[in-house]
Amino acid sequence: MTIITVIGAGNVGATAVQRLAELELGDIVMTDVVEGLPQGKALDLMQAAPVMGYDTNIVGTTDYADIAGSEIVVITAGIARKPGMSRDDLLVINGKITKEVCENIAEYAPKAVVITVTNPLDIMTYVALKASGFESNRVFGMSGVLDSSRFATFISMELGCSIRDVDAMVLGGHGDSMVPLPQYTTVSGVPISELMPQEKILQLVQRTINGGAEIVEYLKTGSAFYAPSASVTKMVEAVVRDSKRILPVAAYLQGEYNENGIYLGVPAKLGKKGVEEIIELKLSESQYQALAKSATSVREGIAKLNL
Ligand code: NAI
Ligand code: 2OP
Repeated sequence: MTIITVIGAGNVGATAVQRLAELELGDIVMTDVVEGLPQGKALDLMQAAPVMGYDTNIVGTTDYADIAGSEIVVITAGIARKPGMSRDDLLVINGKITKEVCENIAEYAPKAVVITVTNPLDIMTYVALKASGFESNRVFGMSGVLDSSRFATFISMELGCSIRDVDAMVLGGHGDSMVPLPQYTTVSGVPISELMPQEKILQLVQRTINGGAEIVEYLKTGSAFYAPSASVTKMVEAVVRDSKRILPVAAYLQGEYNENGIYLGVPAKLGKKGVEEIIELKLSESQYQALAKSATSVREGIAKLNL
């Protein structure tokens, strides 16, 4: 039986565990630093199994020894930005947490594929690569599935069409520098440029870029977790089932898209080995420039960490 570990039993982590359990993708270990939190949530989810009909074992623990044998580890551990705290403070704190988490993964689950969720995503994925010492195909991040899903949602809301028919693509860093790609975004194969005016597309692109902040504005005390947990579940499923799905993934670039030695969101084939191929799309000149801007902000963040 595949063992999937989710580190961080907060909003994204625990909701991801629920989704993974319901899909019966494997047995699940959920960890956190807060004693009792993963144990309580795991037991609660086990008690939902008879009602929902899933046959998944879920263990909650604060002991890294319990993640032994995990084939996949999802990292959602971290803190959210609090009042008075700068983005850089958050970067440093989550950087330390991610480093410590990955050193433990390397010790207790050395063969695992690692999927990061903790923000700032592209930088934390780089920290995870360095701290784990794993090959880069085994360490990647979740951002583009979420950002593309937000873009798709806004398109379907605008057109009043089924969400099933919308295929959206968003690349780049997770944050203000993401790069939605309208030319690769279609409804039943029809480019959205045929279905709505350019001005409307630009509005939806902007709403997508602001997608995480829009939810924070509503929630006030936290950030989105239903769509993020769904997005990382889709990536875990692609790995567990070795399904070779092509999804936007924060992948380690080594020359692709003119970038080297950093993580950025790009389309990639996901399977048992993790990132099995990076797909290079032809971009417009302005999109290449936007991607380069994304890369600069990721590099600046990495430099602040003094790794
Ligand atoms: P949350 O605050 O609900 O949960 C975080 C959990 O991490 C807490 O339970 C906390 O106790 C735990 N934690 C803190 N330090 C730890 C450590 N050293 N070891 C193990 N666990 C530790 O936060 P939420 O909403 O679940 O978000 C988690 C992270 O995911 C945040 O950094 C957030 O910004 C990020 N995020 C990223 C998204 C993406 O698209 N990449 C989307 C949504 C959230
Ligand atoms: C989001 O996009 C906060 O990164 C998180 O919702």
